[in-house]
Amino acid sequence: MSRIDEIAADVFRISTYVEAAGLQFNQFLIRDDEPLLYHAGQNALFADVLDAVTSLVDPGTLRWIGFSHFEADECGALNRWLAAAPNALPLAGLVAARTSIDDFAARAPRVLADDEVVGIGRHRLRLVATPHVPHNWEASLLFDETERVLFCSDVLAQHGRTAPVAADVLEHAVRGLEQGERGPMRHAIPYTGDTQATFERLADLGPATLAIMHGASYQGDGAAVLRAYDRALARVVGPERPSAAGR
Ligand SMILES: [Fe+2]
Ligand SMILES: [Fe+2]
Repeated sequence: MSRIDEIAADVFRISTYVEAAGLQFNQFLIRDDEPLLYHAGQNALFADVLDAVTSLVDPGTLRWIGFSHFEADECGALNRWLAAAPNALPLAGLVAARTSIDDFAARAPRVLADDEVVGIGRHRLRLVATPHVPHNWEASLLFDETERVLFCSDVLAQHGRTAPVAADVLEHAVRGLEQGERGPMRHAIPYTGDTQATFERLADLGPATLAIMHGASYQGDGAAVLRAYDRALARVVGPERPSAAGR
């Protein structure tokens, strides 16, 4: 059973808690002329998420299935959504398309270049290529310029939350990197020579809502939270960590 919350105008968070993982898996639906689902979710969650989507829009009218990178919680059920919605297409960054989606998906994706904007009705969506943020070469994130929502994927992931929106996502996420309820998460996000610049770019978008895949979403000064998370990553997993010994 999924919980549905509207976290911005016509932006819905569909949250499913998976006990075995100790994690929420959140999908986001933008209800507009061309409805978009961000994250296809795992196959195991498909029936549950389909029920939730059906309560918001006719799932047969879905037009876009977006995601950050190629993993089961992002893309597992992609082809089931394409089967359920005859006009739906994957919405993919160029690297994701060429490395995985061109081969994996039942229909060819609409490919967006870095910084390209697509209109889906009232909402305008900008794709930002974010290699290795949160992870994988093909990673990108999506920014809803209309409602100033950044779809963050695994950035700021938190274990075991219940509230749909929380003020302390940064503290909770950083604690998870350092110790985690089920072990440290520090290997989930690498820190490359481009990581800080990528977070600066995301912060410069000025998001008012951070729509996070695992855990609560955040409403407020998204730029400050993204910059602080980057600093924490540099300290915990990146060049400022005290020592790699024992890791
Ligand atoms: Fe991921
Ligand atoms: Fe994830």
